Amino acid sequence: MATIQEKIADLKKRQEKVLLGGGQKRIDKQHESGKLTARERIEKLLDQGTFVELDQFVAHRCTNFGMEKVESPGEGVVTGYGTVDGRLVYVFAQDFTVIGGSLGEMHANKIVKVQKLALKMGAPLIGINDSGGARIQEAVDALSGYGKIFYENTLASGVIPQISVIMGPCAGGAVYSPALTDFIYMVQNTSQMFITGPAVIKSVTAEEVTAEQLGGAMTHNSTSGVAHFATANDDECMQQVRYLLGFLPSNNLDDAPIVDTGDDANRMDDGLNTLLPDNPNQPYNMKDVIKSVVDNGEFYEVHAHYAQNIITCFARFDGQPVGIIANQPNVMAGCLDINASDKSSRFIRFCDAFNLPLVNLVDVPGFLPGTDQEYGGIIRHGAKMLYAYSEATVPKITVITRKAYGGSYLAMCSQDLGADQVLAWPSAEIAVMGPAGAANIIFRGDEDAAAKTAKYVEDFATPYKAAERGFVDQVIEPKETRPRIITALNMLASKREQRPAKKHGNIPL
Ligand code: HXC
Repeated sequence: MATIQEKIADLKKRQEKVLLGGGQKRIDKQHESGKLTARERIEKLLDQGTFVELDQFVAHRCTNFGMEKVESPGEGVVTGYGTVDGRLVYVFAQDFTVIGGSLGEMHANKIVKVQKLALKMGAPLIGINDSGGARIQEAVDALSGYGKIFYENTLASGVIPQISVIMGPCAGGAVYSPALTDFIYMVQNTSQMFITGPAVIKSVTAEEVTAEQLGGAMTHNSTSGVAHFATANDDECMQQVRYLLGFLPSNNLDDAPIVDTGDDANRMDDGLNTLLPDNPNQPYNMKDVIKSVVDNGEFYEVHAHYAQNIITCFARFDGQPVGIIANQPNVMAGCLDINASDKSSRFIRFCDAFNLPLVNLVDVPGFLPGTDQEYGGIIRHGAKMLYAYSEATVPKITVITRKAYGGSYLAMCSQDLGADQVLAWPSAEIAVMGPAGAANIIFRGDEDAAAKTAKYVEDFATPYKAAERGFVDQVIEPKETRPRIITALNMLASKREQRPAKKHGNIPL
């Protein structure tokens, strides 16, 4: 009969084995390829010493293809909980050193357990993916494992923030769990996502493409829009996830943490009064406006490389985290197109689900014209913005710096779509369409067309026609923008808005 000391020694031996994952040789290989191990990643993500591991001794029970002889320490995934800046989070990290991090029945069960705990406790879940996909030997048990994970992802959507981190290959069905979550991080040169890899593509379509070109970090950050953040290495990636969490509440019933940023709520910026070029057709950088008005000029861009004609970012006003959606006149004159609509609608819905007020900075000349856009369904995609803003019940503040024309203005959250406060700079041009185009229609063939057009532009390319109807709440000096936004946010802090009861809406997808 073993003594308790012997039993403790046995426990330690078992734990040591699990901690070593697939063994030192495979750990070295992981390091050589520029990657951290699953445990090192968790260490970097969580506050020091807070990680509590669950299910260390879970083992697979597959007997196909000699698998009964294959050990899988930790079952290829490290799961548990800990804190980030003192707040509870759940985490799983696939361990590529154990059967390539491949996902079998028990591996999936470990992930599902932390998914359920995170949902029950109302805490964010961070999933670190580094896996060869479904463990082929486990066949439909592996497939079923993915199905269970997708189901839990969907139940948790809008209840807790779900963040996916891609830190290795992510192929086949494995890409769909990340796609169901709120944000996807990728690491440059070491992570890929694709439904079918280069070899299959070559055999089916004869197309030749490298894994990096097909599904690397920049492909998904700039071309497909599947990923939201690209980072240089594992370490930086984990730091960025921590940074993002600082803007977010733990769940949909919580408020985001207010921090003392030390920036004066009444601070004005004279520079904003001279920022806009005299010629309304000349571009400027809307990020200069954002930097000027938010606390300490600090903002965190989401989808920084994708649809750059619109900016989506988190920032703080007097310590209160918000989501900012801003047209970017520097790119495609700030026109809305299919990708900008998708990017911003999803961001709006995330902010609304998690109680983050929306601040909309508007300089939009219209929807991008062209057959590409029409055939691609700009009507359906643009409608997402109308839907997302109308549906959102968080405080909504719209600031018009310059152009606010037609449907594209409504799509940037006009008063009619529920903006609680609309502020306009004196340079604002709020109109049913571009004034030159409008004058062209009504004065066509008129011998005084030129003079009448000039008068039309003078009268209508202003904020005052809209202000006469009460569509604008305040016309403000640009330099006052920060204090006016903060006053409006404070006024709206107790906002309550009900929507008709329904199972769920039917957003145009
Ligand atoms: C079982 C796997 C595996 C898998 C990797 N391994 N992927 N075992 N099932 N899916 C094992 C390898 O056999 C190897 O074992 C170890 O993990 C490390 O893999 P390597 O190939 O040596 O590593 P590397 O050269 O870095 O290549 C990594 C890789 C490659 C690109 C991920 O392993 C690969 O292409 N794997 C298959 C990917 C795939 O087709 N997955 C789709 C599965 S179907 P040893 O013992 O030699 O070290 C799917 C559908 C699910 O996912 C649908 C759900 C909806």
